[in-house]
Amino acid sequence: MISLHGVDKHFGDLHVLKDINLDVPAGQVVVVLGPSGSGKSTLCRTINRLEPIDNGEIRIDGEPLPSEGKGLAALRAEVGMVFQSFNLFAHKTIIDNVTLAPMKVRKKSKDAARSRAMELLERVGIAAQKDKYPAQLSGGQQQRVAIARSLAMDPKVMLFDEPTSALDPEMVNEVLDVMVSLAKEGMTMLVVTHEMGFARKAADRVIFMADGAVVEDTDPESFFTRPESERARDFLGKILGH
Ligand SMILES: Nc1ncnc2c1ncn2[C@@H]1O[C@H](COP(=O)(O)OP(=O)(O)O)[C@@H](O)[C@H]1O
Ligand SMILES: [Mg+2]
Repeated sequence: MISLHGVDKHFGDLHVLKDINLDVPAGQVVVVLGPSGSGKSTLCRTINRLEPIDNGEIRIDGEPLPSEGKGLAALRAEVGMVFQSFNLFAHKTIIDNVTLAPMKVRKKSKDAARSRAMELLERVGIAAQKDKYPAQLSGGQQQRVAIARSLAMDPKVMLFDEPTSALDPEMVNEVLDVMVSLAKEGMTMLVVTHEMGFARKAADRVIFMADGAVVEDTDPESFFTRPESERARDFLGKILGH
């Protein structure tokens, strides 16, 4: 479903992605771990082409990424992305946040978009807040709306880049619960997170990145109990050590 072959990316002199090879089959949940600056966000951003690459190839469901125009808009609809900052439209209600893109990009009728949006808002537990504005919701609620908004486009793949890092601790689980249920339903997901509970509960696979390269690519159990590289042992020592 997601495939990267020989992907390289530089920012000026900085080599941020080094020969990345990654194949994610449909329905797999991959957690991406690694120290700050290792290239995790850049990896996500290249997959929906928010960042172009220098070399290599990226395919979604067998199709090479389009570089511009209509094809690119269609790709963005197929690859949902949820960031640390929720990026909801502040001056639109919750329901309008969720219906806007399906109407504009997917050309859904207002009625169809609203009924699908209500289904998704139910699923993330926010239906009762549909007529409020983002600022009237907690961070955890806003992030759940952001997930519903992505799902409204019927994406083939969901990318999450530290979706709980900006949340107060008591709100982390309500967002992770939505992600766990999405994973159980078979969504193909690439998740950058430091939430080890999520990695252990929902991940099929862990990718550990350091200095722009994939250093380990294994199952969660092996990664957490028998990391092979010094870099991974060091990283785990720091995040699990307190
Ligand atoms: N737009 C940019 N321009 C220049 N350097 C960038 C840009 N975005 C990220 N970087 C650099 O690329 C490296 C990888 O960043 P990033 O992908 O954000 O890492 P991570 O998400 O793992 O913390 C870092 O050294 C970062 O400073
Ligand atoms: Mg990042």
